[in-house]
Amino acid sequence: MAKLIDGKAVSAKVKAEVRAEADALKEKGIEIGLAVVIVGNNQASRVYVNNKKKACEEVGFTSFEYALPEETTEEELVDLVKKLNADDKVNGILVQLPLPKQINETAVINTIVPEKDVDAFHPENVGHIMIGDYSFLPCTPAGVMELIADTGIDPAGKNCVVIGRSNIVGKPMAMLLLHKNGTVTICHSKTADLKKKCAEADILVAAVGKAGFVTADMVKEGAVVIDVGMNRNAEGKLCGDVAFDECAEKAGFITPVPGGVGPMTIAMLMKNTLTAAKLANGIEV
Ligand code: GUN
Repeated sequence: MAKLIDGKAVSAKVKAEVRAEADALKEKGIEIGLAVVIVGNNQASRVYVNNKKKACEEVGFTSFEYALPEETTEEELVDLVKKLNADDKVNGILVQLPLPKQINETAVINTIVPEKDVDAFHPENVGHIMIGDYSFLPCTPAGVMELIADTGIDPAGKNCVVIGRSNIVGKPMAMLLLHKNGTVTICHSKTADLKKKCAEADILVAAVGKAGFVTADMVKEGAVVIDVGMNRNAEGKLCGDVAFDECAEKAGFITPVPGGVGPMTIAMLMKNTLTAAKLANGIEV
């Protein structure tokens, strides 16, 4: 039976470290601010944004919320981002995705100055991640790396399989595992023998967006199984991409949903915002 990886506990540790540094900066007169922008009425986005604001309170940051209506134009959102770029009280800018269909997400992300891009979505920051020389870690993959570290298992030389190739999770996840010397395979909807490839993974990261996608036959005995999925099942209950009960029988370590990767994403966002504030004040990171 797998050991549970406790995302709540690991995220609490990360947030406590951020809080201690934020308190020390406050003593020097440095206040840290995160602008959180939400457009429209996406219910899941509203929950995420509320959690991000709550985390700001926990670590002693000021959050500035901008809730814009569904019919907001791309120009209006770009104008807001430009205003936040120029605002010294704002160290980090987070535009919650997805955006309504009339707005080009890439155009908005590209408007955020890289120094305030605490999601690490801007092409300049993505490039830094690719090279392995970065200040901002992409929040979800960085959170996953913390959870893997918590198991005590070193990815070096291990078979690491990432299911999903999104810009937010799959691609940067593969890169972070590679930086730790994992042998990385990215699987996706066109992958041949996907089940077999997953079953060879020592570390399996599922970021598919389909409830119960990973079944026990895809899990190697003793593997580390990380579930990035956030889905609702037929009863409306939150569940991941991994069929938890059957996979927990075979895995060595497994994350629950909720209480696994979710809290880590937010903790790493706080860490990035702290980094942005330090860089803005000429403090080494
Ligand atoms: N939507 C889903 N995940 C994320 C995230 O990590 N950042 C932002 N900005 N939007 C998201």
